[in-house]
Amino acid sequence: MNVQVIFYSLYGHVWQMAEAVAAGAGEVQGAKVSLWQVAELMPDDALAASGARETRSRFAHIPVAQPAQLEEADVILFGTPTRYGMMAAQMKQFIDQTGGLWVRGALIGKLGGVFGSTNSQHGGQEATLLSFHTVLLGLGMLVVGVPPSAPGLHAGDTLSGGTPYGATTLAGPDGSRQPTPLELETARLQGRHAAALGARLFAR
Ligand SMILES: Cc1cc2nc3c(=O)[nH]c(=O)nc-3n(C[C@H](O)[C@H](O)[C@H](O)COP(=O)(O)O)c2cc1C
Repeated sequence: MNVQVIFYSLYGHVWQMAEAVAAGAGEVQGAKVSLWQVAELMPDDALAASGARETRSRFAHIPVAQPAQLEEADVILFGTPTRYGMMAAQMKQFIDQTGGLWVRGALIGKLGGVFGSTNSQHGGQEATLLSFHTVLLGLGMLVVGVPPSAPGLHAGDTLSGGTPYGATTLAGPDGSRQPTPLELETARLQGRHAAALGARLFAR
């Protein structure tokens, strides 16, 4: 069973969540897990102005995904930061190259899920995840979230990411907040949940 974890990240939050999702998927026997990032689209000067050169260098070793590789996957988990309540353009650019796969129905029946990050608590986590789900459904995929048994979905007394629709973190107003152990645990459980379901559906 082939699990692909594909993310975009500017300041490293979604990257850390992606590593946790991949680790969780890797706990499932028979899962062959790979981690990918989508191509950067920002011009160099904008990247420098964003202050993200250093943070992006931390995960520069992760290979850039090509849309054609999706066909080889059984389970695909996408991670994106929120941009004004929706996915980042870098991720959308990747998604918008799947037209040929859609025409051939190449992704029909695969499992898919989404995880993410916002700056603020009400900055659009669910909006981003749920609008990304429409893409997965449009491609004919089955959508998997986070099981309600995950402790991170019940952190009502503290500021925390974590939704049933996908694992999330909060970067904070200046981006300095980092994913907490609980948020990373939710990401790990999302990866494990998707891979465990994949193992049942796609055992060869
Ligand atoms: C153009 C732009 C739009 C953004 N829109 C939102 C938003 O709507 N809500 C929010 O909470 N954060 C917003 N953010 C903050 C990002 O979501 C935040 O930087 C990101 O979650 C951090 O993840 P990363 O470290 O993986 O890049 C925005 C950031 C940028 C650059």
